[in-house]
Amino acid sequence: MPEFDLVIRGGTVVTASDTVRADVGVRDGLIVALGTDLAPGQTNVDAGGLLVMPGGIDSHVHLAQPAFGGPAMADDFESGTRSAIAGGNTTVLPFALQPRGASLRSSVVDYHKEADGKSYCDYGFHLIISDPTSTVLGQELPSLVDDGYSSFKVFMTYDDLVLNDRQILDVFDCARGCGALVMVHCEGYDAIRFMTEKLEQAGKKAPYYHAVSRPESVEREAAHRAISHAELTDVPIMIVHVSGREAMEQLRWAQQKGLKVYGETCPQYIALTADDLKGLNMDEIGGKYVCSPPPRDHASWDAIWEGITTGVFQTFSSDHCPFYYEGTQGKLNPKARTSFKWVPNGIPGVAIRMQVLFSEGVVKERISLNQFVALTSTNHAKMYGLYPRKGSIAPGFDADIVLWDPNRKETIRQELMHHGADYTPYEGMAVTGWPVMTILRGRKVMEEGKILGEPGNGAFLKRGLSPFAKPARDSQPAYA
Ligand code: URP
Ligand code: ZN
Ligand code: ZN
Repeated sequence: MPEFDLVIRGGTVVTASDTVRADVGVRDGLIVALGTDLAPGQTNVDAGGLLVMPGGIDSHVHLAQPAFGGPAMADDFESGTRSAIAGGNTTVLPFALQPRGASLRSSVVDYHKEADGKSYCDYGFHLIISDPTSTVLGQELPSLVDDGYSSFKVFMTYDDLVLNDRQILDVFDCARGCGALVMVHCEGYDAIRFMTEKLEQAGKKAPYYHAVSRPESVEREAAHRAISHAELTDVPIMIVHVSGREAMEQLRWAQQKGLKVYGETCPQYIALTADDLKGLNMDEIGGKYVCSPPPRDHASWDAIWEGITTGVFQTFSSDHCPFYYEGTQGKLNPKARTSFKWVPNGIPGVAIRMQVLFSEGVVKERISLNQFVALTSTNHAKMYGLYPRKGSIAPGFDADIVLWDPNRKETIRQELMHHGADYTPYEGMAVTGWPVMTILRGRKVMEEGKILGEPGNGAFLKRGLSPFAKPARDSQPAYA
């Protein structure tokens, strides 16, 4: 009986801290050995010329979320996680959303029904709090955190989700009490409504005006407000999907002040611009790129790189939020043609997150291989209570591994995405570096773009508390 179920031989193992030539031995779904010339396993994979990295962890994806009467999402758990493994990911963290008036616990139960038996990769849930009643804050959240849902997201915009400042403070205070990490969507609701009304009155209704309706100042103001509320309640927060200099500098300012404010950015903020929303001639094709915050401009790409390379951002996530383009459920649906405000917000990206960062970051020598691993896997595991089970290659970790060809040149194309959406906003983008095999707990689930795994291979991950959610030692809010 061979000592190992699987040996990955002859590759270059890259973790967030080291780059070494080593074989990786796997038994019972776990990494059990790293070394040279390991004994043959039951299965042996030749990784010569390839990078052997921890499977991607995408800590910000939206799958099968309730539509609130708008178009349905293009991905359920099956198609969304299929796309994830095609892109070299082995874990995703989507959001169990509490519709207003509903119990959070029952929303989580319902969301499990969407996921059970359908996921190609491992998954945990963040919670979206849209209705922070005293029951939610006093009973449901503390017990859900104990059950492994150790992070929440709150929104400062969107009709169905926006919380007012008092509600945000209450959620922050609750998170502090239960040790959870709060993710914040920073865009100011009233400013966006004002801009939207004014633009519509001026007849400016094409998808491009989505970007005009939520400029960087709207994101900067909300980021500052969220940071101030976090300071008041003495709670760490994660500001998600940061799009450009204004918000990035708010994060840097807070971090330099010693506040525990973490940051996430995404491929759309280094690969797309607001000009993409113009379409061919201010036409509906621009709807393909509508997401929030919107993509900005090339100067913003530089600012995001500044934030990535100087450590302002800890995580690089996709914010995969897929809608169809065509059809009555698409971005082009009849209502959406009447105004940008009805175009569903969100774009797919879970299948290309890692390639875009590798190509633009590692290949162009902006970041090291180790930073790449930290930004796409290790930091997500640490930030969201999955470490040391996920996020590295070392004995004892789950054998979640991506084999990566650093020299493979590809053009991003819809047919490579394996997602439910009928387009990719990155169509035609040339990248260098591509995942050639994804291994989930020791089992090959993707090889050369072929999906080998099955829905149901993925397991629910009960997450621990994030060490990043701990307030500074000895600190207290003034009211405690
Ligand atoms: O446009 C986006 N990003 N939609 C997804 C929801 C969110 O705010 O993350
Ligand atoms: Zn958001
Ligand atoms: Zn999102």
